[in-house]
Amino acid sequence: SEPLRLGIAGLGTVGAGVLKIVRQKAALLEARSGRSIRVSAVSARNRDKDRGVPLKDYAWEDDPVTLATRDDVDVFIELMGGSDGPAKAAVEAALKAGKDVVTANKALLAHHGQALAELAEANGAVLRFEAAVAGGIPVIKALTEGLAGNEITRVIGVMNGTCNYILTRMEDGGLTYDEAFAEADGLGFLEADPNLDVGGIDAGHKLSLLAAIAFGTQVNFAGVELEGIGKITIEDIRQAADMGYRIKLLGVSRMTGRGLEQSMAPCLVPAGSPLGQLTGGTNMVVIEGDQVGQIVLRGAGAGEGPTASAVMGDVMDVARGLRVSTFGQGAKGLVSATPARATTP
Ligand code: NDP
Ligand code: HSE
Repeated sequence: SEPLRLGIAGLGTVGAGVLKIVRQKAALLEARSGRSIRVSAVSARNRDKDRGVPLKDYAWEDDPVTLATRDDVDVFIELMGGSDGPAKAAVEAALKAGKDVVTANKALLAHHGQALAELAEANGAVLRFEAAVAGGIPVIKALTEGLAGNEITRVIGVMNGTCNYILTRMEDGGLTYDEAFAEADGLGFLEADPNLDVGGIDAGHKLSLLAAIAFGTQVNFAGVELEGIGKITIEDIRQAADMGYRIKLLGVSRMTGRGLEQSMAPCLVPAGSPLGQLTGGTNMVVIEGDQVGQIVLRGAGAGEGPTASAVMGDVMDVARGLRVSTFGQGAKGLVSATPARATTP
């Protein structure tokens, strides 16, 4: 069968990771999908930067929009980031041209997910974004595939690797906030604007996406009650530890009689609980379904390998011929979620 031809815009932590997988695991990917997966063209800001992976085999485009609409691109992979600007322009251009799109960009989807889902549907294209939520954990696949026979009653979790890394390194490693932050940066965890991480906004984006998928509504990021970790001091962390608790940036979403409840805020969790024992960049998502009961998913929430792994999961689905977008079919029919004030987890 025909090869699946990729165009990758963004060659930073995640983009370089995706390129490495495509290059190093070509035979495995072909054996698993029945198609060879090739990269036609790439784009980033700086053509001369060393990415740790050779680029000479691929066409280069300075403009991601041009890349997204090339004839030799079947799937446009957006790994630049940003809720607007070139990422939005290129994803829109790709979808209008009927190209499938895979992205890790939760900010883009939290703000424009509904419009992009409708654009994909109108043009017969697929829009998938497993990597946008909880890094390497296939949580979206769990919700949309394995748990598809359930009514989801609640989704909670730790969804930002940077915050969890900073909080646990301050507690376990005795690091200052700045030292822990610098380590998280070195591991490739941070957003281009780290205020999105420490302000709880990135985790809020993810929660709003999971809630939309879990409860079958339009994304309502504005309805997330948000508080970041910026005000947490080492003294707060010590006091919590003395009482047998740890501080986690915890997200909760559930559908109530009053509407959709979504909150992302620092919470005390028992130190010995699975959530309390999450360290470093690890994420945990707990899903409750009416048939299955409780499912706990745990794994690397950020970084090159885990995030590229999730991007490739979507690419492989497209290669296998799955014509389903992450928000499902019938995007136009999705109703907006009425926000309800959060109570307790
Ligand atoms: P990086 O900052 O490491 O990489 C961004 C890449 O995009 C760079 O290669 C940059 O080019 C390129 N870029 C930025 N603006 C433009 C532009 N205008 N035109 C062309 N290229 C551009 O980001 P990450 O790889 O960390 O993140 C990428 C996406 O993945 C984001 O949406 C992020 O939220 C998401 N994500 C990241 C995770 C992580 O752990 N890092 C985890 C899950 C999702 P250049 O290198 O030349 O500057
Ligand atoms: N900045 C994000 C985090 C990357 O720290 O979790 C993964 O989405």
